[in-house]
Amino acid sequence: MSKKYYIANWKMNPDTLREARALALSVARGVKGVKGAEVVICPSFVFLGEIGAAPFIKIGAQDCFWEKKGAYTGEVSPIQLRALGCSYVILGHSERRQYLGETAEQVKAKIRMALVAGLRPVVCVGEEKKGSHVQLGTRLKQLIKGLDRKDAQRLLVVYEPVWAISTTKGGREAEASDLAGPVREIRRVLRALFGSRPVPVLYGGSVEPDNVADFMGIQGIDGVLVGGASLKASEFSALVRKGQGR
Ligand code: 13P
Repeated sequence: MSKKYYIANWKMNPDTLREARALALSVARGVKGVKGAEVVICPSFVFLGEIGAAPFIKIGAQDCFWEKKGAYTGEVSPIQLRALGCSYVILGHSERRQYLGETAEQVKAKIRMALVAGLRPVVCVGEEKKGSHVQLGTRLKQLIKGLDRKDAQRLLVVYEPVWAISTTKGGREAEASDLAGPVREIRRVLRALFGSRPVPVLYGGSVEPDNVADFMGIQGIDGVLVGGASLKASEFSALVRKGQGR
C-alpha cells in the first residue's frame, strides 16, 4: 500500500508558542505507531524552528517567497525554510489568493524555487463555486507545466474547493461524489504532463474524523489537507487513525 499524507494547516493559529508546542507534542503522541501515514504539521512561520517534531512527523510552511535571498522585506525564502528543517511548503492556498491577491504567476515561481531549495511543494487548486470545476485542469497546468519528471516526483497536488472549506461563509461540506470529476481532471493533467510518475493527490475542505474515511476511499486520493480539525490534537490524531482504517 502506498504512503498516505495527512497535512495539518494550522493557518494563523494558535496565539502562543506554548500552545503550538503543546499541540505538536500531543499530535506526535496521538499518531505514534500509525503505519503508512506521512504526518506533516504546517505552523505559522514564527513557530517553525521552535516546535520539535517527533522523528515520524514532518514540518512544513504555509508559504514561501520566489527568490532565494535579497531585499524582500517581510518575506521568507525556501532556502531559509529548508535550513530550519522544513520538508514541505503549502503553495497557492485559496486564502492567499483571496486576501493577498496572490497570482498564478507568483505561485508558479514559488513552486520552482521551493523545488530548488529541496522542499516538497503542496500545490492547492480548487474552484470558488460548487460545480464550476471546468477550469481546474487549466489552472493546474498553468502552475506546474514545464516542470520536469524528476520535479514531479517531489510534487503534491491538493484539490481544495473553496466552497467546502469550513470557514467559507455559506459554504458546505463536499460529499465523496463531488470529488470524482475534479480528481479525474487533476489526474488527467498530471498524466499528460508527467506520464506515469506517481504524484500524490490530496483533498482539502472540512475533513474531520467522521468523514475522512469516505474521502480516503475515493480512487485517486492519497491524503488530506486539514484546517480546523488539525487544531485539536485529539481530533487530528483520530482523523489520521481513521483515515488509515484504525
Ligand atoms: P478546513 O479543514 O478548516 O475546511 O480547511 C481546509 C483548508 O483550507 C486546509 O488548508
